[in-house]
Amino acid sequence: MCGIVGYTGPREAYPIIIKGLKRLEYRGYDSTGVALQNGGLNVYKKKGKVAELEESIVGVNLHSHIGIGHTRWATHGEPSDRNAHPHQSASGQLAMIHNGIIENYSQLKQELINKGYSFSSDTDTEVLLNFIEEIKKNNNCSLEEAVRVALKRVTGAYVILLMDAGDPGTIIAARKGSPLVIGVGKGEHFLGSDASPMLEYTKEVVYVNDYELAIVKPDELILKNLGNEKITPYIQKLDIELAAIEKGGYDHFMLKEIFEQPRTVYDCLRGRLDAAEGTITMSGIQQYAEQIMNANRIVMVACGTSWHAGLVAEYIFEELCRINVEVEYASEFRYRNPVINKGDVIIAISQSGETADTLVAIENAKNNGAIILGVVNVVGSSIARISHAGAYTHAGPEIGVASTKAFTAQLAVLTMIALKIGYMKGTIPQKRYMQLLNELQEIPEKVAWTLKHSDTIKALAEKYKDAHDFLYLGRGYNFPVALEGALKLKEISYIHAEGYPAAEMKHGPIALVDENLPVVFVATKDPYHEKIMSNMQEIKARKGKVISVITEGDETSASLSDDVMLVPEADEILAPMLTVIPLQLLAYYTGLAKGCDVDKPRNLAKSVTVE
Ligand code: G6P
Repeated sequence: MCGIVGYTGPREAYPIIIKGLKRLEYRGYDSTGVALQNGGLNVYKKKGKVAELEESIVGVNLHSHIGIGHTRWATHGEPSDRNAHPHQSASGQLAMIHNGIIENYSQLKQELINKGYSFSSDTDTEVLLNFIEEIKKNNNCSLEEAVRVALKRVTGAYVILLMDAGDPGTIIAARKGSPLVIGVGKGEHFLGSDASPMLEYTKEVVYVNDYELAIVKPDELILKNLGNEKITPYIQKLDIELAAIEKGGYDHFMLKEIFEQPRTVYDCLRGRLDAAEGTITMSGIQQYAEQIMNANRIVMVACGTSWHAGLVAEYIFEELCRINVEVEYASEFRYRNPVINKGDVIIAISQSGETADTLVAIENAKNNGAIILGVVNVVGSSIARISHAGAYTHAGPEIGVASTKAFTAQLAVLTMIALKIGYMKGTIPQKRYMQLLNELQEIPEKVAWTLKHSDTIKALAEKYKDAHDFLYLGRGYNFPVALEGALKLKEISYIHAEGYPAAEMKHGPIALVDENLPVVFVATKDPYHEKIMSNMQEIKARKGKVISVITEGDETSASLSDDVMLVPEADEILAPMLTVIPLQLLAYYTGLAKGCDVDKPRNLAKSVTVE
């Protein structure tokens, strides 16, 4: 996810672009850049936040009435000055910014290399830009035409904005899969990833659709499809305040991130899972696939919510790959003297990619000959860099301190790795493999279904908010989800909560049960279903309150519960990506009901870089 801004009209472009980029920094902030027509087409860009770019060009004459700007969340190529956008074409005539991923960029790059092109960055963006320039040159056509021809060859997602030195009043824009809003002013136009950069100038906006191309001049907006047919722009009136749009209309980043999950899980699967073809493409681990398949053991190393994802993955890898898996708290693993044999595979799971304990744990293991795989959200982060190989979770920047969308994306990535390795190894029967691929593809839709029931959970939070303790119980794949549910509630509402394996509850926590104790069961339809219903009976017999996450239509569990939260039916391996959703919402709404600062809970930090 990156933020993009553009302006063409009578005002000074640079201040509009910089202010807009600051509002879009939630989308990413590892590097920043602008392109302006100030005595030629000039690009100013720098690794770091928007403010750092501003400081670096104080005193430069930035007078221009047109410009594009970009705040980057790196996908291809580490955050650096040279990988920052805008990129310039080989001739210097074109400048472009891009949000998204060009999936077939390596093929296009090879074609251009064969024609003598060389590249000054590691980005897919520079490849697409030169591909457009090559078409423009060869076909002797307009930039608009070249963009149209080029995009027909592109797979992946994009919003692109282009400026041409030879056409100093025009911005060409196109979109597929990533957001693009065009603000319509009087003799001026604004472009943005969302409407926040243009809100004080105009309330009239056009939401550009997939496969549409816009030719934007100060007093003209032409919208076309890729077949070169004109489309009448549909102008909508914005009815939102600036503060709201910065969080995408949600009250808190945490809520926004919970509700983003249909999209983030989808983004994580996109380009990797092809259920129709029966394939999983994980280019980041391909080189090590054989070694993972032949590993004697896999060790998952992580902290916090990421450690819970590791626990779910332990069950999945053992089931699908028949490899011995251990799950370690990074802070314990690094300080003891663990036995690490050459060829052991360590999977480091981390949203931030910067958690100090996880980082040092894998450094030690690497020095002892282990293969390190990173399952990381932040591109170019330390853990991603130190790992031999890995897979990004592509969940976009997570701003709420309590991790939500990163967890479901981690589960999606780890499931895909296990499916790939298990299939290669022959430990997953073909029929089961295909069934899981098909079901995995349906998960984003099922997450969306689950989120539709948020009002029920809000009411539950009101009902139970004054409890002093909560117990969360689950079995099998849902046991780690119980731990995660308890962690979320503790973090956000400051209510003490414990997660436990449902059967183990009889060996201690049952002593806590009385009429004041809410017990949350994660009890979807799976092979342990009857057992967990017995555990519900045991709580009820002691007057505890039973709140259950159950499969839609499961009347028996519903009749044993005081309150229920529903999820759609899913294979037990995939169920955690659904069952965690109501628990995230329960924590959020409980924190809200208690007046807590849910986005910045006391004493916690988003990225723990101290030991
Ligand atoms: C902190 C965050 C948690 C996160 C944990 C691990 O405690 O508040 O949300 O799960 O660190 O962070 P990582 O970035 O390594 O996943």
